[in-house]
Amino acid sequence: MQEQINFTRGPEIIFARGKTGSIGSILKSRKINRALIFTDRGIIEAGIIETVKNSLSEKNLDYYIFAEIETNPLKSVIKKGVEVAQELEPDIFIAVGGGSVLDTAKAVAVYYSNPDLNILEQQGELDDNYNRFPVITIPTTAGTGSEVTSWAVITDPEIPEKVSIGGYCLTRCLAIIDPEMTLTLPSKLTLWTGMDAFIHALEAYLSNNSNEYLNRISYIAMEYVVNNLPIVIKDSSNIYAREKMLLASYLAGWAMQNAGLGLVHGMSHQVGAFYHHHHGLLNAILLPYVVKYNYPVCKEKMDNINKLFIKNSKNNDDKTLTDSIFTFYNSLDLKIELSIKKDDIHIMSEMAVNNVNSETNPRIPDLEDVKKIYSRAFKVEN
Ligand SMILES: [Fe+2]
Repeated sequence: MQEQINFTRGPEIIFARGKTGSIGSILKSRKINRALIFTDRGIIEAGIIETVKNSLSEKNLDYYIFAEIETNPLKSVIKKGVEVAQELEPDIFIAVGGGSVLDTAKAVAVYYSNPDLNILEQQGELDDNYNRFPVITIPTTAGTGSEVTSWAVITDPEIPEKVSIGGYCLTRCLAIIDPEMTLTLPSKLTLWTGMDAFIHALEAYLSNNSNEYLNRISYIAMEYVVNNLPIVIKDSSNIYAREKMLLASYLAGWAMQNAGLGLVHGMSHQVGAFYHHHHGLLNAILLPYVVKYNYPVCKEKMDNINKLFIKNSKNNDDKTLTDSIFTFYNSLDLKIELSIKKDDIHIMSEMAVNNVNSETNPRIPDLEDVKKIYSRAFKVEN
């Protein structure tokens, strides 16, 4: 029997097709007049930001755009965002983009509304008594789950390391989860972010901190990805499948927020900080090797996950979950080999072993375990 189940406090959620077009009315009804929009150049060039701009303009609301965000947000960008907010003094932030954009807005909100916090030093989980500045998050990828979590991941290029900041002060958010905002997401990003959502759900499901409720949520999220990712890769405008992918991302985000993650994230964060590859791609590369490593301690759960793949395939009954994942990758044309330097493996492995995500992995890894997994998953160069 489950002894105790605790859930964290999350943001307000509106999940609806086309809801982004009502953002002006939402702000007006809450007596908010001045917004600072966080986004990136890709979102602007794709015209995705126009829905937000038009809706705000229709209601005569003031807005400013901060678009200097790139993949793996740097501390310097957070600092710049705080300076822009101090100059403009908005009532609210609106974050429109993928995980990097959402995390940046959430982190800037913390440092902007709590000037005593030092961007270069303060990290980890913050006390409940810090100020909570309001942020509206509008994800344009189905994968990050950042719209529902109380954490933001920031890259410190000097260490190099990805550090996290989290707590109640990052949850004064309204998430507008609108499948129409993901319709123009390019195929490669759809694939990598979709795999990130799957891995959030898988790691939450296998976490040593999970529970019966979260197991159900995680399993549904994995099922949605396995059934719908191949559809959106073939037919990017399939709104039904896009909706299921975004729902998977949200459910997986809620599960990981409460159950924690595992060794895939513990290891991928280090490669991301050293080599700046896409987070979802790195997770996808590591997944089959970490699954193989974890299998002896969670056979039943892994066999349950494998059923999701087997029911979609023919003559597949004797495949392990690792085999099924590779087959799934082949069907999605996810065959990318990345290199890491031999000299970096030791330090990345030390950081991975000590990473907070590794603490909830079902099998607690030692240094040699992690080194072996890095060497198998990546091409090692001198
Ligand atoms: Fe992730």
